[in-house]
Amino acid sequence: MTSYNTAGTVSAPLDLVRGEHESVTINGARRVAPKPKVTLTSLTVNNVGTLRKINNVVFPIVYSERFYSEVLEPSLDDVNKLVYYADIPVGACCCRIETGAKQDPPTLLILTLAVLAPYRSQGLGSALVRHALRSALHPTAPPAPTPPATGTATRAQLTQAPPRKVINRAIVHVQVGNNEAKHFYERLGFKENKILDNYYTSTRMEPRAAWMLVCDDIAAALGEEGANGA
Ligand SMILES: CC(C)(COP(=O)(O)OP(=O)(O)OC[C@H]1O[C@@H](n2cnc3c(N)ncnc32)[C@H](O)[C@@H]1OP(=O)(O)O)[C@@H](O)C(=O)NCCC(=O)NCCS
Repeated sequence: MTSYNTAGTVSAPLDLVRGEHESVTINGARRVAPKPKVTLTSLTVNNVGTLRKINNVVFPIVYSERFYSEVLEPSLDDVNKLVYYADIPVGACCCRIETGAKQDPPTLLILTLAVLAPYRSQGLGSALVRHALRSALHPTAPPAPTPPATGTATRAQLTQAPPRKVINRAIVHVQVGNNEAKHFYERLGFKENKILDNYYTSTRMEPRAAWMLVCDDIAAALGEEGANGA
């Protein structure tokens, strides 16, 4: 049975292992603060400005308009998400699907992953990546296109994109020297594949080399059965 998702909707609150109840002191008495509500939201034209702000704060480079229009692709609606912490947007993960070289299986390429510094170490980054991996492995039908409020849409603009193929491989590039980020991805099932010298073209990214980290079996990384047809 085909399952449908709805563009721009907010997920049910996530149950994170980390960032659990906090012990706080209120009027001299120790209380346990409730777990903060953490949700994932699809990217839309209305919140892409928020995504841009988060990326501008976290990364030393400015991503192009083309980048932002590509990550809004309806076919990636289930993959690319903003994370809200107590209803505040604090992070995001943006990916694209690579079908390039014939010998390579279709691959989820993680382009950006950012969590604002005060909200780190609570499992939000891992939740964003795991969500993207799960969505790649279990694609849902993309949302139906929304007709423009003004003007006339072409038939192509109103044609619903076909469901994606199952993707069981993911790649991410991490700047050489960012050991914390490398370990973060290794914990999630990625392995160092090679070093790409001069991967970054911006002078703001020194060193320019990147580790290419590959997760060859998303199903296994997520602890699911039937990994790579096994
Ligand atoms: C990488 C990042 C998204 C992780 O987000 P997060 O919400 O803290 O992730 P989690 O809570 O799931 O995991 C935290 C772990 O990530 C690791 N980590 C990765 N990068 C880190 C960083 N720059 N600062 C601190 N910890 C980092 C640490 O090992 C940390 O473990 P700890 O909590 O025991 O210290 C976040 O640190 C970030 O936005 N970094 C800057 C951008 C970046 O480097 N992106 C990755 C390349 S695209």
